[in-house]
Amino acid sequence: MDPQVLARYNSPEGARSYRDEYRTKLHRKLSDRIERRLFERIFRRTGPLESLLDIPCGCGRLRGLFRRHAERVVEGDWSFFMLCGNREEYGEDGTTPYVRASAVSLPFADRSFECVASIRLNHHIDEVEERERHVRELCRVADRYVIFTYFSFHSLKNLLRRIRRPFNKKKPKAALRTGRVVEIAREEGFRLVMAPALSFFGSGHRFALLERKSGGLPR
Ligand SMILES: C[S@@+](CC[C@H](N)C(=O)[O-])C[C@H]1O[C@@H](n2cnc3c(N)ncnc32)[C@H](O)[C@@H]1O
Repeated sequence: MDPQVLARYNSPEGARSYRDEYRTKLHRKLSDRIERRLFERIFRRTGPLESLLDIPCGCGRLRGLFRRHAERVVEGDWSFFMLCGNREEYGEDGTTPYVRASAVSLPFADRSFECVASIRLNHHIDEVEERERHVRELCRVADRYVIFTYFSFHSLKNLLRRIRRPFNKKKPKAALRTGRVVEIAREEGFRLVMAPALSFFGSGHRFALLERKSGGLPR
């Protein structure tokens, strides 16, 4: 991740402002609402879960949603201040512990959680090898399901960005190709079940659900 962006997330003001954006900005509220609809589709497919790791959890935006679908939720983030804000707001009740950790190198044994969710992180990771490593790491720790978002290379938004690039010199988006997600999933013993787009026009984000193929060793 760009060190400046990471430093911002890992500061009291950055953590507060991320939380406030979802309370005050219309486009954030709208995308939050659409995301929740996508999650309902995803959770219809998985059914109730025994355990879920939410990393990065940020300010706990999706905590309530995840807790409705999983008996045990662990909230993780690299930002100390995101975790502090989250804990201040929601407290700690024993069923939802907090852990400071990096989602590209998780401090958990293989297949520790029935589901691992990593929302709105992959597109912040600069190098494509790291973005792919992120997906592999989520698969390692997930016993059955991985839910993660990525910025789709083939999205309309990225196509327009690539067309304009020679003129505005903006740096390329940190994208992943869906075909590559399918390959990585296969290599890790998973398959891509669905990857609905947040929006066809306004966003390049996709919400992927990976499911472990049967035949893998049980936990
Ligand atoms: C855009 S926010 C998303 C938060 C939350 N998933 C959501 O959708 O509201 C990105 C989060 O990633 C965290 N982060 C950045 N690099 C990370 C890493 N390597 N491991 C875990 N969290 C990281 C930041 O601290 C920030 O909370």
